[in-house]
Amino acid sequence: MKQFPTHFLWGGAVAANQVEGAYLTDGKGLSTSDVQPQGIFGSIIERDASNAMQYLKDTAIDFYHRYPEDIALFAEMGFKCLRTSIAWSRIFPHGDDAQPNEAGLAFYDKLFDEMAKYGIKPLITLSHYEMPWALVNQYGGWGNRKIIDFFERYARTIFTRYQKKVKLWLTFNEINMSLHEPLTGVGLSRNSTQSEIYQAIHHQLVASARVVKLCREIIPDAQIGNMLLGGLMYPLTCKPEDVLVTLQQNQKWLFFGDVQCRGAYPGYMLRYFREHGIDVTITEQDRQELQNTVDFISFSYYMSGCTTGDETEYQKQRGNILNMIPNPYLASSEWGWQIDPVGLRTLLNLLWDRYQKPLFIVENGLGAKDTVETDGSIQDDYRIHYLNDHLVQVREAIEDGVNVMGYTSWGPIDLVSASKAEISKRYGYIYVDQNEQGTGSLERRRKKSFYWYKQVIESNGQSLSEK
Ligand code: BG6
Repeated sequence: MKQFPTHFLWGGAVAANQVEGAYLTDGKGLSTSDVQPQGIFGSIIERDASNAMQYLKDTAIDFYHRYPEDIALFAEMGFKCLRTSIAWSRIFPHGDDAQPNEAGLAFYDKLFDEMAKYGIKPLITLSHYEMPWALVNQYGGWGNRKIIDFFERYARTIFTRYQKKVKLWLTFNEINMSLHEPLTGVGLSRNSTQSEIYQAIHHQLVASARVVKLCREIIPDAQIGNMLLGGLMYPLTCKPEDVLVTLQQNQKWLFFGDVQCRGAYPGYMLRYFREHGIDVTITEQDRQELQNTVDFISFSYYMSGCTTGDETEYQKQRGNILNMIPNPYLASSEWGWQIDPVGLRTLLNLLWDRYQKPLFIVENGLGAKDTVETDGSIQDDYRIHYLNDHLVQVREAIEDGVNVMGYTSWGPIDLVSASKAEISKRYGYIYVDQNEQGTGSLERRRKKSFYWYKQVIESNGQSLSEK
């Protein structure tokens, strides 16, 4: 019988800036996420007292104050693991502060203690789509090599503080995202040159490798992984040129995994730099530091897409946030993301074949509009189908011999979306009474999928339906 491993880490994933709110509470500094209150596709808005608490993200779902209730609900579903992030600007409000902010550190102590009460393991991302805004304003973001040292200091502080409480870590969320949104990824403006962006990415890769080493020194029994946006591309046709271009498109994001798992820049990337006039300073010390490779690979997976070498065809057809061409064989979500469960099995096999390191699916889910029925229930069968079909493919991959550590679906509780800061794009098993105007009560409510996921976890996947 096909099975999930006995200690499979079932759970959910959220990020500080999308759930916590309390954006200036207890000494927190402004982050890049705070100055983009309309989401990562929005523009930068200067924040001061005159526009405080005006945006959804400023309060988000108020996880900062309501986490005990939310953790209890996750525990009720049987979560083994909860992925969240630490807001760097709660710990170092300006990024370059000499001392950490004790109130920020104390908040995460309480959060991890609450999780421990129920035996829920924290999986903690050091940086999920945010960094202290002052590091961008005053230092130029990751374009400046000094940020590596500030990040190291932040990582050292939290590894030391939480060494007994957190044994699973991730460095940068969707590290390849900087190729699409450099402000969110590396604190650079959208009109930066390719050389500037790749230099900043290089600094981030060095920082990631440096803190992998640090984590091993401070918490020898911890595991630390990277986090990739799994942007799986298929050729639009079987024309050899389309196949080659697709390979190259996949290399654009696999490059990050190659550096973080194999410890060096791959030849295809050096060729890309040479042929596109991209100049990246890589020192001998950087080369050595990069050899500190991760213990496991984590990734997000929401959709796949197609690509072609035919420029006009590409311009005509491109769609969704990653500008992938929609696949004519697949349906799409309300937000135009192509739904492809089989792609998840393909991706798991591809990453396992390439790296032979344990894999952790740390984001997957369906953003959809929910309706509260007159009896108060939320019948989100569409979400159940999406998740069921993806989990069936995870089990197939495990059967293929892929080592999968766990699965944390995205947004187990409704949260503010990253791309456009919407709350009506819901991912949760738990409904949060909030609307785009911010006039909701924030009351929590179990959806139909809540009971479905509880059963999946309880049965260790045996309740999934193969259809
Ligand atoms: C991932 C991010 O890209 O996708 C999350 O790591 C994000 O932060 C998720 O929320 C879904 O995207 P969105 O825009 O629907 O929130």
